[in-house]
Amino acid sequence: MIETSIEINGSTQLYALLGSPIRHSLSPLIHNTSFKSLGINAVFLAFDSLDLKQALSGFKALGVAGFSVTVPHKVAVTSYLDEVSFEAKLIGSVNTVVQKRGKWIGYNTDVIGFTKTLEPFRKKVENKKVLVLGAGGSARAVIYSLVNNYDVGEIFVFNRTQERALQLISDFASIRSDATLRFVSSDELPKLGAKVIVNTTSVGLASEECLVKPDFFDSEMIVYDLIYDPIRTVLLRYAHASGAATINGLDMLVEQAAAAFYLWTEKIMPIETVKKNLLEKVDNQ
Ligand code: ATR
Repeated sequence: MIETSIEINGSTQLYALLGSPIRHSLSPLIHNTSFKSLGINAVFLAFDSLDLKQALSGFKALGVAGFSVTVPHKVAVTSYLDEVSFEAKLIGSVNTVVQKRGKWIGYNTDVIGFTKTLEPFRKKVENKKVLVLGAGGSARAVIYSLVNNYDVGEIFVFNRTQERALQLISDFASIRSDATLRFVSSDELPKLGAKVIVNTTSVGLASEECLVKPDFFDSEMIVYDLIYDPIRTVLLRYAHASGAATINGLDMLVEQAAAAFYLWTEKIMPIETVKKNLLEKVDNQ
């Protein structure tokens, strides 16, 4: 582990994660590594609570400087905040809360996390058809990033619950009439011609499941799985075996945290140090 130390004293600021369960969260490691490495007098602690209202009044009373929000509070927290960013409203969930002049302001940093991690592949992504697996909050962040930051072709949305995908498509149509989004069924998947595939579902999380068959993939594809546990999901293993370029969820985990860290501290997260510590931790699990 790479660390420099800070001395906790009367001026140490508290940043937090609120959710349940949070025992396996990597956020404390990411943010505390960053605080220590930059010599910022702050700590990041994870709080496991289902009582959102009480937890938030505790945070306010104790002067928590900023916090991350995770399952199951990402949607409900929006109604307790003073302001919510445009992106977070459209995505329908908040993962970062910043305290500014006594007000809580909610953001969703998944958009910036996804945008940054896809950047090295920009040329290969442009004008390509995209298949997004899933229609939840992560899918909304991915689609928001694609329609605003990348010049992609048609975006196909595949989801177990069709109504949810149709709602997503209609919400995006109301802000970007030029974006072409279409719901697709599983029968259509093999003939779509999509060259960018993004899994935003939890299928494959800590399991050997995969929504698509091995023969779906080809060597011209870029396949991105937002899951980071395991780092190499079955989806990514199938894609890699077909010669496709793959991106795992660890980079996005770090980049969305870096965006939160910047909102809180106006400092750039020491990404390489954080990734090194994370990989040591993940490899040891
Ligand atoms: P997140 O914020 O991570 O996107 P979410 O909003 O709960 O989380 O969305 C989870 C996504 O994973 C949804 O697309 C969900 O499909 P449904 O809308 O049909 O629920 C998808 N998902 C979760 N478990 C799944 C499963 N076993 N099979 C297929 N899709 C699944």
